[in-house]
Amino acid sequence: MSALRVVQVGAGGMGRAWLGTVAADPDVELVGIVDLDLDAARAGAAHAGDPTIPVGTDLTALAAGTGAEAVLDITVPVAHHPVTLEALRAGLPVLGEKPAAQTVAEALSLAAAAEATGKLFMVSQSRRYNDHLVAFREHVRLLGDVGGLSTRFAKAPHFGGFREEMDDVLLLDMAIHAFDSARYVLERDPVSVYCESWNPSWSWYRGDAAAAAVFTFEGDVRYVYDGSWCAPGAETSWNGDWRASGAGGTALWDGDTAPWSDLDGTVGAPGNAPSVGHEIAGALASFVRAVRSGEVPDGEVHGNVMSLTMVDAAIASTRSGRRIVIDEVLEQAHAEALAVERDEAVRDRLASWGSVRDALGASAAAAH
Ligand SMILES: NC(=O)c1ccc[n+]([C@@H]2O[C@H](COP(=O)([O-])OP(=O)(O)OC[C@H]3O[C@@H](n4cnc5c(N)ncnc54)[C@H](O)[C@@H]3O)[C@@H](O)[C@H]2O)c1
Repeated sequence: MSALRVVQVGAGGMGRAWLGTVAADPDVELVGIVDLDLDAARAGAAHAGDPTIPVGTDLTALAAGTGAEAVLDITVPVAHHPVTLEALRAGLPVLGEKPAAQTVAEALSLAAAAEATGKLFMVSQSRRYNDHLVAFREHVRLLGDVGGLSTRFAKAPHFGGFREEMDDVLLLDMAIHAFDSARYVLERDPVSVYCESWNPSWSWYRGDAAAAAVFTFEGDVRYVYDGSWCAPGAETSWNGDWRASGAGGTALWDGDTAPWSDLDGTVGAPGNAPSVGHEIAGALASFVRAVRSGEVPDGEVHGNVMSLTMVDAAIASTRSGRRIVIDEVLEQAHAEALAVERDEAVRDRLASWGSVRDALGASAAAAH
């Protein structure tokens, strides 16, 4: 089968990583680069190894002119909703960087837009594409009834730039990866959360760089997240340190090396799961397979919205000092999305949903 012809929107820092990944994948052909900043688009084409790749600022025109079959949305979060909506309306499936959108309401609107246009919108939650994470889930499956899962995350990076200025930096920019992985490992969805976030006296971030959250998941399972982005010394891996505890034993993963399990004295030996590839290369390969086959991939927007909702609910809890029910966040976001939606077909889809959890779950269930 010939390579999938893609236009990439956004040629900034992460955009360059995607351009390299696209160039290395023989199943994908880059046919155009869109950026509001044409110099960035041109620099992206040079970075991709072919300065003659068409560039522009108008996605619909460039996609039509180049015969694109799909779009990669690697813009900043605030642009995810307009760029992805434009691509879906042009009849093109989209693979977008996390987060799905800037707000849960916008992410719901994009889920409804995917339904209305019949086109795939997949979110690249890159840390899901990790064979150790898959193996960790296999070990967790050996534990029988699981009661608790925890992640300790401790790093001390000096990024400079927007991260050191933004509100809720740890929860918004990093914790979504762990929250999304927790849903993957537990194979169930969250019900409520209590969270506190704070900024240690020595923090070099303006917003809160540390947070502790307790999520209740379906089936009364608890997920505990304890994270900090200003914790120098004895740092964890970027994936964090994971521990799951169940009726039959404990499973452990340090986030970097192979996970293992102790089944009350016996080392667990799950079968080998097929490889999911590595980070954005794995996400890209999964997207191409899904576009070709029509299968629903991991990261399809309906399934991914719940990870973004976990972040929103955790922030609402830290602000209010209350335990937050996830369904309340979803229903409120749904009302907001309906109130501002201008596209009639998208509004009709949103209005047709009964409970938001069911609307999201129905498609997510179809993915497995
Ligand atoms: N998965 C990861 O580990 C990871 C790491 C870093 C960033 N990201 C995500 O990648 C995305 C991009 O981040 P970045 O660091 O590359 O940002 P960036 O600011 O470096 O680059 C964004 C680019 O998009 C362009 N752009 C913005 N709005 C646009 C629009 N409406 N139309 C066309 N172009 C537009 C900008 O001109 C810029 O060139 C973000 O969603 C971020 O959260 C993910």
